[in-house]
Amino acid sequence: MTLTTSFHIPVQRAYPSRLHEVDWENLEFGKYFTDHMLICDFTDGQWQDPQIIPFGDFRLSPVSLALHYGQTIFEGMKAFRMDDGAINIFRPERHYDRMVLSSERMCMPVPPREVFIEGLHQLVDLDRNWVPGEEGSTLYLRPFMIATEARLRVKVSDSYRFAIVATPTGKYFEKPVSVKVERDFVRAARGGTGYAKCGGNYGASMYPTQKAREEGYDQVLWTDGSTHRYIEESGAMNVFFVLDGTLVTPPLSDSILDGVTRDSLLKLARRQGVPVAERPVDVEELKEAFKKGAITEAFGAGTAAVISPIGVIGIDGKDYTLPQSGTKGIGAQLKDALDNIRYGREADTEEWNFIVK
Ligand code: COI
Repeated sequence: MTLTTSFHIPVQRAYPSRLHEVDWENLEFGKYFTDHMLICDFTDGQWQDPQIIPFGDFRLSPVSLALHYGQTIFEGMKAFRMDDGAINIFRPERHYDRMVLSSERMCMPVPPREVFIEGLHQLVDLDRNWVPGEEGSTLYLRPFMIATEARLRVKVSDSYRFAIVATPTGKYFEKPVSVKVERDFVRAARGGTGYAKCGGNYGASMYPTQKAREEGYDQVLWTDGSTHRYIEESGAMNVFFVLDGTLVTPPLSDSILDGVTRDSLLKLARRQGVPVAERPVDVEELKEAFKKGAITEAFGAGTAAVISPIGVIGIDGKDYTLPQSGTKGIGAQLKDALDNIRYGREADTEEWNFIVK
């Protein structure tokens, strides 16, 4: 799908460009930001005109509601430099739909579709020199919204800022990750905000993740909030296992984020004839599968993480090591299939690619 610009957003250009400051060999996630950003404010009950301006600080009241009570949501998607040099934003519509769900859950106004989609398009077009050329490196796009009303009462804000910033990025994880199955702390309970991409979910995960890091793990593998028996997700990514040759992932619920990479992988796996199951994964089942050798792969999937192999799963004080299937496993096969579409090597039959002309 090719985006055409029907809706023009005024641009205030940044001079000089900061492109030369980037160390392209070390694209640490979220370290460099492109020259421009989009902003669009919601005041007086309506969205005002969006603008693209030089990347820079916001002026915020110290009592902006977002800073105190957590009305903040965000999205994360990527722009790829395709093999023919064109630039492709992957599945922006799906990300927009999820931002609508997050807005509704957090009592925030829904950003207009054209501001989100055209804003991404025009920002990426303007900052196209920031899209890395090397395969595996991408321009990560971060639309987000914060409550800006200056008030200290606990209330739904009357004003908001929607913004989009962009950061050239390499791999999120450099090597297979080790995860600790979390049996005490909770990321999201049923009825909570787990399915929304809101800042609070990430804030709440810091302490348990810090504890897991002290024990030598990279990430937490969350279990359900009521029984701590079933695997949910890993916070920065959804999780997949290959159990007896079937690709298994926990089913979506209101405590699991509906990952765009998760959805893409499930579609690609089904298309390739890989047996797929979206079903609860009991931690006891995982232990048994390790004993029997029935678990051959585990990986996280997310926009930032792409497909990140899991090397070790810590369960109740014992570490279980996964064989690394390298380029041969189902995870690697699906990553290739995804990249083939995103880089334009295979037909984009699902219309996932938004080409920036
Ligand atoms: C993403 O994959 O886009 C995420 O939001 C995960 C993390 C960087 C917060």
